[in-house]
Amino acid sequence: MQSLTMTRPDDWHLHVRDGAALSAALPHTARQFARAIIMPNLKPPVTRTAQALEYRQRILQALPAGMAFEPLMTLYLTDNTAPDEIDRAMDSGLIYGVKLYPAGATTNSDAGVTDLRRCYPVLERMAERGMVFQIHGEVTGSDVDPFDREALFIEQILKPLIADVPGLKLVLEHITTRQAVDFVSGAADNVAATITPQHCLLNRGALFSGGLRPHHYCLPVLKREQHREAVLAAATSGSAKFFLGTDSAPHARHDKESDCGCAGCFSAPAALELYATAFESVGALDRLEAFASHHGADFYGLPRNTSQITLLKESWTVPGEFPYAGGSIVPLHAGQQLPWRLQDIQ
Ligand code: DOR
Ligand code: ZN
Repeated sequence: MQSLTMTRPDDWHLHVRDGAALSAALPHTARQFARAIIMPNLKPPVTRTAQALEYRQRILQALPAGMAFEPLMTLYLTDNTAPDEIDRAMDSGLIYGVKLYPAGATTNSDAGVTDLRRCYPVLERMAERGMVFQIHGEVTGSDVDPFDREALFIEQILKPLIADVPGLKLVLEHITTRQAVDFVSGAADNVAATITPQHCLLNRGALFSGGLRPHHYCLPVLKREQHREAVLAAATSGSAKFFLGTDSAPHARHDKESDCGCAGCFSAPAALELYATAFESVGALDRLEAFASHHGADFYGLPRNTSQITLLKESWTVPGEFPYAGGSIVPLHAGQQLPWRLQDIQ
């Protein structure tokens, strides 16, 4: 196959930050994707509908002239979120989900939830109104091994949640383990998952190949090879429960290459090409379109995009860095070749 034309994809999990970082990061995504679910973990977090709508305006203003892109906004759940906020969000028509960050789990999660049971009234309102719950599925606590956090979250938090609020539509974000694949596969239709390019392509060995690799560090952290294989098998299975969510999470080079480096892979510049490479590795390119462009829209109840993009079988080298908010940023796969290239739109 020398080219692959498909429905324009969407990114169902994206961090684009704010201010100068937003202006630098956003064009990379808008070049590839028609829409993206915008994560709310700013400083301060986007906890209210009014804040989300203001953030949406800043995103639209940061979009280079001539680029079409629709930000799908979310709210950041806290212990104090009121059920009425769900009504305001839903009624705005511009907010598509509420995100759970367990307090302390990841970047800007300090204001996150300390005990999910405190949020049950909010979650019940979300179930009533059909608002999607987007879950960072890791237990926290310095006593818990980072490689076990997702599997423990499923047992300790997710299974009880689904039993207690059965009608809630939820997405287990950026899944990384066989346990998550098995759980989502066996759950009812209201349970789905997003999958990142790094968790399709890399195992935890990539954190240490030839030395410490901060640009491969994200949360949930990369896992063993058997888990990567399970995650890639889920992405390429054709199941409508699994869809594209890059979790592209930009951090300046100096914040990654540090004695306490930030978590996040900046995959936006080559996102689709990275997924294409992963799908081709298991002979599943024919399933890329459904994963990237159909399943997410269907789950969220949104129309599929009508425009198309083309990937060309043309080797290219991902740039080593890009300008970023007064400094630079290193993309995932920097300096390495990819066999597929997104054709530029004229
Ligand atoms: O690696 C990550 N980076 N995981 C997250 O959950 C948050 C994200 C970020 O915002 O940097
Ligand atoms: Zn994320």
